[in-house]
Parts: sequence; structure tokens; C-alpha cells
Amino acid sequence: MANVVIMDHPLIQHKIGLIRRKETGTKDFRQTIGEIAMLICYEATRDLKLEDVEIETPICKTMAKELRGKKMAIVPILRAGLGMVDGMLSLIPAARVGHIGLYRDPDTLKPVEYYCKLPADCAEREVFVVDPMLATGGSSVAAIRMLKEKGCRNIHFMCIIAAPEGIEAMQEEHPDVDIYVGALDEKLNDHGYIVPGLGDAGDRIFGTK
Ligand code: URA
Repeated sequence: MANVVIMDHPLIQHKIGLIRRKETGTKDFRQTIGEIAMLICYEATRDLKLEDVEIETPICKTMAKELRGKKMAIVPILRAGLGMVDGMLSLIPAARVGHIGLYRDPDTLKPVEYYCKLPADCAEREVFVVDPMLATGGSSVAAIRMLKEKGCRNIHFMCIIAAPEGIEAMQEEHPDVDIYVGALDEKLNDHGYIVPGLGDAGDRIFGTK
């Protein structure tokens, strides 16, 4: 089963409370989404492997730690995932950024790819897929399937708010993918919105409606 990590850090919980409020405007919403993404990224990268390297300080030679192995890629699911990218890049500035765009076919209700641009060497990278809202799980399941088809094997998923239905869908199809969640909510409503949630994350990040 996929490892689900639900954040209990007080700063993350406080900031999620801010973005849930309906009176929070676009500027504050966007900024706070970025801050939360950075804090979740801090937790989600806790298990990255380190190696010992010899360095020289202005005083003497010494051993220091350096990230070992795979380089990282951040892959936002368009469009709301874009709101999490800058916060993550503030911690891992050398990460490459790929993009996956999906829309829901109105007849089949299945996610359809309309855009996919990934780093050429993404199969060799540690990939962090980001989307603020894990609702039905349709988009994230499809996005991760696309990444696996391109050879990616080390995939993590980060979201800010998840519904139990989305977690279940991800665990069912991608048990190998770790899921980092800011808050686990109650359920989905009949329109596919997370309850209590925060509304439409994309509209609130970009000020569209
Ligand atoms: N996407 C959103 O932006 N909000 C939800 O509640 C569910 C999916």
C-alpha cells in the first residue's frame, strides 16, 4: 500500500485554515498555497539519501553531507498544480519542472491528456507530482500512469487537501507512490468538490471564476 503521510505541522495546519476561508482573496490565497507547498516539500524530501563528501572550509578540510543519487523533477498537474511550483523551487532550486495537462471528457468523465512536456531524463529523476486538491483521484492517477509509461519509477505525490476517495483511488492504482497530504477532509460532494475543502483551487489561485 502507498505510504500516506498527513502533515501535522502547526504552520501547515494554520495556513490551510487561512486558505479555506472564503474571504481570503487571490493574492493571499496564492501566496499561502506557495508557503504550504514549501512546507510539505520539506517533509516530503525528508527521506532523500545523503552521502559524505570531503570539502574544504576557509579553515580546514572536513566531511560534509550532500544529496546522493537522483536529481529531482517537479511535475504540476495543470492548472492548479502550478500554484505549488515556486514554493517547491524555493527549497530545491535546481529541480527541473515538467507539466501535465488533463481535462475530463464530458461523456466518459475520464481524464484526457492535452499537454505533456517532461524533462528528457525524467525516468532517471525523483519525480514530485503536485496538485493542491486530490478529489476523485482521476487526474493524479492518470498523470502518474503517464509518467510510468515514460519510464519514471521514483514518483511521489503531494497535495494540500485530499478526500478519502482520492487517496483510495491512488492506493488502488499506484501503491508504490508515496502521498504527502496537508489535510485529509471528509468526503466529496455531488459536484466532485472536497468537503469542507476550499472551493476551486485553480480559480482561487488565478482569480478566475
Ligand atoms: N478541485 C478543486 O479545485 N477543488 C475541489 O474541491 C475538488 C477538485
